[in-house]
Amino acid sequence: MPHKSPIIIDLKFIPLEVMQALKGAFSGREVINLADVEHVRRDLRGIDYAVVWKSAPDLFSRAPDLKVVFSGGAGVDHVLTLPGLPDVPLVRFVDRSLTTRMSEWVVMNCLLHLRQHRAYEARAKAHVWEDLSQPEAADVTVGVMGLGVLGQDAIKKLGVLGFRTVGWSRSKKAIDGVETFSGGEGLEAFLGQTDFLVGLLPLTDETRGIFNAGLFSKLSRSGPFGAPVFINGGRGGSQVEADLLAALASGVLRAASLDVFEQEPLSRDSPFWDMENVYVTPHVAASSDVRALFSHVEHQIARFESGQPLEYLVDRSAGY
Ligand SMILES: NC(=O)c1ccc[n+]([C@@H]2O[C@H](COP(=O)([O-])OP(=O)(O)OC[C@H]3O[C@@H](n4cnc5c(N)ncnc54)[C@H](OP(=O)(O)O)[C@@H]3O)[C@@H](O)[C@H]2O)c1
Repeated sequence: MPHKSPIIIDLKFIPLEVMQALKGAFSGREVINLADVEHVRRDLRGIDYAVVWKSAPDLFSRAPDLKVVFSGGAGVDHVLTLPGLPDVPLVRFVDRSLTTRMSEWVVMNCLLHLRQHRAYEARAKAHVWEDLSQPEAADVTVGVMGLGVLGQDAIKKLGVLGFRTVGWSRSKKAIDGVETFSGGEGLEAFLGQTDFLVGLLPLTDETRGIFNAGLFSKLSRSGPFGAPVFINGGRGGSQVEADLLAALASGVLRAASLDVFEQEPLSRDSPFWDMENVYVTPHVAASSDVRALFSHVEHQIARFESGQPLEYLVDRSAGY
């Protein structure tokens, strides 16, 4: 039997989940889980594969012979910024369960804002029986920035609920029943129609700080709630939090749902925690299912070793 290269696992996930998912994974191959103390000083030279999520900056100097790097998540900004990233294929994680989870989060937040859930929670706490005027989903246009795997699934599911949807991406997309826009030239028209803005963009040089005061001021104010809502499940580096706080305080934005932040974990004294018009979740919109991640990596390694092209390759120059 040909020698199978060991695989390095360097995932800052819940350690027990990684350990359990490793049972039975990568059969016939040595697994070097860097979370195990026994591997702290392990020689990692000559190893072909690594699965990484928020690795230590010395990973690539310790493992200089990697042939493929696998991201533990859909985003790869955490890998592209690691020092010494070798010029080898970088594969991101694309998986049904991850996609579904993100759509659950997006749909849940659109519904929370549509159905004015915070206002009803406050009234319930105060034992106040009061009917608020209730628009329906079809009265609201949800604009999704990022029409990749996640954005397209979210749009599909929002459509099932009756929301009107529009989308924006780098290259023009054709999606049945959805008006789509692309690039800088399409952004203003897209924003002008958008009542609930959903961010599902990767973090790149082009998207860093894209959700800023200028962008918020271009969103539609003619929707049923009179002011737009911002929902970000992409990356915190894409939002300018000083601008976001000001927009939420002044009414430029009515409300927000934030799963991602400029600095994570969000500091305990961040004003976002206490804002009545903000839902905060701790970067859990679409956590990777570790078993699904390992079977995806096994599948890609099998393709690679049999000479088939790898899937879900990252375009290093585009940054995603
Ligand atoms: N919060 C969480 O738990 C969580 C979980 C998973 C992922 N995420 C985030 O979600 C992001 C999206 O994931 P995905 O799988 O949908 O990625 P994807 O399939 O690569 O799609 C990315 C989308 O963003 C668009 N885009 C990229 N740069 C752009 C730019 N400068 N201007 C306009 N559009 C741009 C792309 O345009 P084109 O279609 O033209 O290429 C594409 O439509 C990930 O990168 C990650 O950061 C968050």
